[in-house]
Amino acid sequence: MTEHRITGKAKVAGVIGWPVTHTLSPALHNYWLNQYAIDGIYIPLSVNPDQLADVIRALPLMGLSGVSLTLPHKELVLPMLDSVDKKATIIGAVNQVIVTSEGKLHGTNTDAYGFIENLRPHLSAKNKAVVLGAGGASKAVVYALQQEGFKEIHITNRSLNKAKALAASFPEASPANWDDRAKLLEGADLLVNATSLGMSGKDPLDIDLAALPKTALVTDIVYAPLATPLLSAAAARGNKTVDGLGMLLHQGVPAFEAWFGTRPEVTSALRAYILEGLA
Ligand code: ATR
Repeated sequence: MTEHRITGKAKVAGVIGWPVTHTLSPALHNYWLNQYAIDGIYIPLSVNPDQLADVIRALPLMGLSGVSLTLPHKELVLPMLDSVDKKATIIGAVNQVIVTSEGKLHGTNTDAYGFIENLRPHLSAKNKAVVLGAGGASKAVVYALQQEGFKEIHITNRSLNKAKALAASFPEASPANWDDRAKLLEGADLLVNATSLGMSGKDPLDIDLAALPKTALVTDIVYAPLATPLLSAAAARGNKTVDGLGMLLHQGVPAFEAWFGTRPEVTSALRAYILEGLA
């Protein structure tokens, strides 16, 4: 791919995190900027949560088009914005801020979109979903499943109170004890791991898949490693699996379009490029 020229008129966006060093977002957005030869740049911004409000207020003053937010800022930023859309309000987290043409700060959430776009080509039945985990990521997952029309969404979490709190926001959702997770898989069309278990350096997810129908789709929001122990075990018994990298790639699509004016494509070449950075 040829390098594109960045001029003084370049549109600037970035990702705010603490730490921000592990983010794949600069590689993702700068790949698209290059691909579409857009005069723009996307940078990592390391911001202490104590200074988040000052930095957010400064975005229009510096002429930025907006930012992505990663841990731990997604929830903290909510009261710092001029407007927050309905889905980000329901999910309780903003992963994208857009600076409007009037210099106002608008918050949205593209994680739910990224999750479901990654799954959609592989989804068949949409009756019963089982979601493992009730942390920040699970909220976007449950929202996306509800929007997609799943009739039953079972949420199981080590801390039952968090599963109960999350399920209370969605009529289709119900909480379940973590100890009952294997039994819960009976008749499921979809199993989602939204816990941090299985991530490099963490314990593997301990779950007996015997009750899971062979027709069920299994996905993990963890993408490092790409083939988590859960996905490997599910694939070995014949279930279709979808890894978590696609969610990251797809969540960037509406964000990129809002900042840079072009709707970008998620391609196998993009996936290979991002994977090189993970190696
Ligand atoms: P995120 O915002 O990315 O979802 P998080 O809020 O820290 O991250 O949530 C991590 C999830 O992994 C939670 O559902 C957590 O369960 P608890 O709510 O009980 O903490 C789950 N998790 C982490 N370690 C776990 C473990 N050893 N066993 C079971 N669940 C675990």
